[in-house]
Amino acid sequence: MTVSSAPGKVYLFGEHAVVYGEPAVPCAIERRATVTVEPREDDHVRVEAEDLSIDGFTVEYSGDAGGRPDVDVPTPLVDAAMGYIDAAVDQARDALGMPDAGFDITVESDIPLGAGLGSSAAVVVAGIDAATRAHGDPLDPREIADRAFRAEYEVQDGQASRADTFCSAMGGAVRVEGDDCRTIDAPNLPFVVGFDGGAGETGELVAGVRALRERYGFAARTVETVGDVVREGERLLTDADPDEDASDDLLSELGRLMNFNHGLLEALGVSSRSLDNMVWAARMADAYGAKLTGAGGGGCIVALDPTAETETALRFTPGCEDAFRAELADEGVRAEDDRAARRREDEGEER
Ligand code: PMV
Repeated sequence: MTVSSAPGKVYLFGEHAVVYGEPAVPCAIERRATVTVEPREDDHVRVEAEDLSIDGFTVEYSGDAGGRPDVDVPTPLVDAAMGYIDAAVDQARDALGMPDAGFDITVESDIPLGAGLGSSAAVVVAGIDAATRAHGDPLDPREIADRAFRAEYEVQDGQASRADTFCSAMGGAVRVEGDDCRTIDAPNLPFVVGFDGGAGETGELVAGVRALRERYGFAARTVETVGDVVREGERLLTDADPDEDASDDLLSELGRLMNFNHGLLEALGVSSRSLDNMVWAARMADAYGAKLTGAGGGGCIVALDPTAETETALRFTPGCEDAFRAELADEGVRAEDDRAARRREDEGEER
């Protein structure tokens, strides 16, 4: 049995604009998806999923994903989750050169689904790592990132940037511009996340921005301006000392840029009432800055605040369902086999 985990992420800057070749800076956060894989004798795939902001479910099917039976859980979120797991299985089979490899897969995640925190990327990254290691053939994180991107690209009909998958595989802060993906040596940042309990429809939101951008020159320039904000933010991060906590000056400047970025996303029509409410609650609580993260429409905002004020304010904000602090996750995808074995031992001892 092999167990891998991979982190979710917030966009410090640059979602949507990244689709049009502008740079983006996502940051991995300490909220993880954990995937356990056991190879099977046959070519079946059995998936058990828990904690995916939906009721747990189990599905078993043989061969390729097309042969998947109907499951008695009619939620589109299950379908979406299964699509990503299928695509991860295909990538693992391809990497292993074993098109008929069968797996028992268990997915646990503490990242809300479809809420801008990169839950699907984390599941795909951890799944590819666990499935390839299960056959004694580990891949390096960059190859996992690349394969995870291909999996997401397929499931999302080509509407995917490399941002989520690269960030989840590598950890820390990263910079993505088209196919060019790099890690940034950034100091720890005091992220606070607010979640409205909902999820945005990424495809529709991306299509909406595309339409605006094609119709109006000023909308196209708004997208380019997001790129300018990202470049400025990236300069601030790379100039900072990665071994020190972020200084007050740095947080003030990053916060100002986050506010600017949110305003531009709002203008591009991808914010929502609940996201704006949470952004304003964070600002009124003296966060350095706040913006939506991910596709928008609903889901999460991210704020910078080293104190407890923003988290408390968000908890009392109408429309905010959950608020939590999220440290920058230095580690991307990682093996959890030892931790899992230790936990089993501890549980055994307790009995
Ligand atoms: O909501 P998320 O975390 O899947 O982010 C979507 C970000 C977009 O820039 C809108 C699309 C993409 O693939 O980069």
